[in-house]
Amino acid sequence: SVLEMEVEQIKKGNYDHFMQKEIHEQPHSLTTTMRGRLKDKSVVLGGLKDHLKTIRHSRRIIFVGCGTSYNAALAARPFLELLSGIPVAMELASDLLDREGPIYREDTAVFVSQSGETADTLLALEYALSNGALCVGITNTVGSTLARKTHCGVHINAGCEIGVASTKAYTSQIVVITMMALAIGADKLSTQSRRESIINTLPDLPDKVREVLKMDDQMKDLAKSLMEMQSLLIFGRGYNYATALEGALKVKEVALMHSEGMLAGEMKHGPLALVDEILPIIVIATRDACFSQQKSVIQQLRARKGRLIVMCSKGDAASICSGGSCRIIEVPLVPDCLQPVINIIPLQLLAYHLTVLRGYDVDQPRNLAKSVTTQ
Ligand code: G6P
Repeated sequence: SVLEMEVEQIKKGNYDHFMQKEIHEQPHSLTTTMRGRLKDKSVVLGGLKDHLKTIRHSRRIIFVGCGTSYNAALAARPFLELLSGIPVAMELASDLLDREGPIYREDTAVFVSQSGETADTLLALEYALSNGALCVGITNTVGSTLARKTHCGVHINAGCEIGVASTKAYTSQIVVITMMALAIGADKLSTQSRRESIINTLPDLPDKVREVLKMDDQMKDLAKSLMEMQSLLIFGRGYNYATALEGALKVKEVALMHSEGMLAGEMKHGPLALVDEILPIIVIATRDACFSQQKSVIQQLRARKGRLIVMCSKGDAASICSGGSCRIIEVPLVPDCLQPVINIIPLQLLAYHLTVLRGYDVDQPRNLAKSVTTQ
């Protein structure tokens, strides 16, 4: 009805689509995610504090999720491994169920779901509960089935997300799992200074996000140059392997363009055969421990005349693409474990603009649902 349409428009404020609004809301949603949780030199997560000891003594931490929620856990995994010293396994909920993978009483299973109602994730939760694991929930929905059935958990407090393609929930999930890692690792002296420096920089993150959001026009230009393409590859590694997967997921789910996120370390084992002068390839090469490997990946792609778009840290463009013709996406540098929060934003903007330019439905992509409550 006309009334319903007007209410929708009011909810969108000055934006054309919910996805666009939610992308631009991220400085605010990240602020509410962190609110009240960062103390002087520690992180306080009320929903976890009585279980931290059990988690620290677990033999394994297993992340379970689907889609974007899985990718968020993947982005935060290296930092959790580093601070906890506990092996961290990743499970797509449906695959865990298909395999009936082993889960033990000594495991901590962490279920990540924006809606808290995804059928596969909830079935995997039942399965982990019946195997006696400690079950932790990370969700955006207070009172959801996930929140009610897990032993403990953390709300991401990103605010209601309406666009089918998850954006602000993704960045808030990464920040929550990063805070969780800081809380779990709080008893370790060896990583204390590292933990404190992250706790001190977390409050600056919303401003850095605000800075990247200014690249909107630039990403629209990039989208114009890519809108007719058949396919788009995204190479990442380390902390930003997840960024490659999530960027590609955004492009395929809303812009309906074939896109694959790939581990750059696997490039020589197949993907390199796809490289030609037409296929666009985004390489994420911001500064971190993987930087030199990524530079050599770029060299190899350039040697094969690949059509490159390089995401790098501010100030690195000239040295990375000297004499070359690659396009550049320059982003602000933040500590490595927080860089995925920054790096996904230009890719969210790119997916958004590609969708609008290609004339597809941004908030209700063909064949997809916000919450998949049936198996
Ligand atoms: C659906 C949505 C995705 C979402 C996934 C997991 O596929 O379209 O955007 O990432 O479900 O949803 P959840 O609510 O469990 O995070």
